[in-house]
Amino acid sequence: MSNKITITIDGKKIEAAAGENLLDVCRREFIPIPTLCDHGDLKPYGVCRLCIVEWDRGDWSKIVTSCNFPVKDGQIFKTSSDKVKRQRKMIMELTLARSSKTPEVIEVAKQVGVDAEAVRFPKKDDGCILCGMCIRACSEVVEANAISFAGRGPERKISSPFFEEAGDCIGCGSCAYICPTNYIKMEEDENFRTFPEWKVKFEMARCSKCGQKIAPKKQLEFIRKKASLPSDWFDVCINCRP
Ligand code: SF4
Ligand code: FES
Repeated sequence: MSNKITITIDGKKIEAAAGENLLDVCRREFIPIPTLCDHGDLKPYGVCRLCIVEWDRGDWSKIVTSCNFPVKDGQIFKTSSDKVKRQRKMIMELTLARSSKTPEVIEVAKQVGVDAEAVRFPKKDDGCILCGMCIRACSEVVEANAISFAGRGPERKISSPFFEEAGDCIGCGSCAYICPTNYIKMEEDENFRTFPEWKVKFEMARCSKCGQKIAPKKQLEFIRKKASLPSDWFDVCINCRP
């Protein structure tokens, strides 16, 4: 471990690397921290706020999100103080008001000690918890940048540009695969893949040898160009490739 430091979590001295994310340290130490916007392949975003912990500064303390908190030597944290538990419950209820029927959200609610059926806030229940994982997967991993957030406050939602057809979408489905609440629908039949939220429809490519469906033509062309592959690279599927 380079630049080794020592921090204290829940009274226990723990070694970490300077600048390491507090959430990563907690996970390594098997300290349970609830999360709903953290993903190993994406940069920390700090938006669900369920990963909060109390940073003990001696005569005062501060609530911080652990997923994007770089640790320094000598810092002291409490992961389940009354203050943390109280705030997490409130955040969880607000999250449940947006999505109370999703197994993943219900599971995290259980960890936090909140009954998904007993939420005190008016329910919108549209399913999207605004975790931004779809947007980050599209921009950070795929690099298509086809979707983003639109609006503010209660009107905030994920969207294609100007709620019109997402012209930069390549139909890869990363947004739908990563979404923890299954809010993004990806429909597929023999010939087309469709994303109603993004108002886009893609023709599927087929293997010229076995006829098997491969992926949307636009996605294959995007990959082919990015990786500078020969123009006929995706004419055949992986099983028929010599
Ligand atoms: S659609 Fe899914 S992945 Fe995207 S912000 Fe909403 S809950 Fe998160
Ligand atoms: S995991 Fe830290 S804010 Fe969501």
